[in-house]
Amino acid sequence: MGTPDIAGRLVLAPMAGFTDSPYRRIARRHGAALVYTELVSAEGIVRGNRKTLDLTRFSPEEKPIAIQLFGKDPAVMAEAARRVESLGPNLIDINMGCSAPRVCSGGSGAGLLQNPPLAGAIAAAVAGAVRIPVSAKIRIGWDGSSRNYRELLPRLEEAGISLMAVHGRTRAQKYTGQADWEAIAEIASLSRVPVIGNGDIRSHADALERLRTSGCAAVMVGRAAIGNPWIFSGAEPSVFDLAEEVRTHLRLMRDFYGERGIILMRKHLARYFHGFRHAARLRGELVRAASFEEAVSLIDRYEGGGFEIPED
Ligand SMILES: Cc1cc2nc3c(=O)[nH]c(=O)nc-3n(C[C@H](O)[C@H](O)[C@H](O)COP(=O)(O)O)c2cc1C
Repeated sequence: MGTPDIAGRLVLAPMAGFTDSPYRRIARRHGAALVYTELVSAEGIVRGNRKTLDLTRFSPEEKPIAIQLFGKDPAVMAEAARRVESLGPNLIDINMGCSAPRVCSGGSGAGLLQNPPLAGAIAAAVAGAVRIPVSAKIRIGWDGSSRNYRELLPRLEEAGISLMAVHGRTRAQKYTGQADWEAIAEIASLSRVPVIGNGDIRSHADALERLRTSGCAAVMVGRAAIGNPWIFSGAEPSVFDLAEEVRTHLRLMRDFYGERGIILMRKHLARYFHGFRHAARLRGELVRAASFEEAVSLIDRYEGGGFEIPED
């Protein structure tokens, strides 16, 4: 137990399909204070499912890292936590915010917001099963008429949670509307454990402003970090810095996934190179690249022309 040691105040949000080991390494290099795996099924871990276990792999330079588990059975969550603790993460995080029907309609993820006693029981079971700190990531409620964070908070604290991340939306909102930073600030003021605020941070300046005004110990950046790891440091990359970063990202993807990494890289490629000359055209060509070599040589070609090459 104890308060987790994190390496700053800007944290990378867990994002399924994006925050894999290669991207977590990139985010950490750019100063993310803490990174998370995407949500990982506790059932899958306990059954020894290969694909599930692959999601828990990480390299030492990603630390501090949280492994995020989802599930609705306290005993299964506790067993999964025990198993992943042996991999050496800094934190075990419990997903109480996923709005995807396949997760929350079964009562896991944001489904736990509808059942605070069960959320508390899961947190207690996990915290009792491991020696490292345990955190939870919540939304502010299930829908507009049940914003029950005031009820949830003491249950999680009593269960032994050491840290809490709060996405300032209800489950019903999914990703629509705006994150409610007043509710996040209220939670930060009520909570006895450090709170990480989350929702709609679009720039480094936004992050600093939310830190200043919310009373949160840290803030978490999700969507705006895709294609822009500089959001953590506040640095302004040149197009040449971008090119070098994308090549590094491509190499990490190839090393981690082999040839299929180029397919998984497409959604990242579509988000890099914004606001530069020929950016849209380069992105369009990159996402069609069939191999790593082709993607790298495309970047080299644009870079060789100073990103000023005429249409051909
Ligand atoms: C593609 C995608 C995948 C996500 N996957 C997860 C997940 O696995 N676990 C989780 O707790 N939240 C997940 N989230 C929610 C984010 O962690 C974050 O709470 C949300 O995107 C709001 O932050 P933002 O406005 O900075 O993006 C996901 C969000 C997106 C867009």
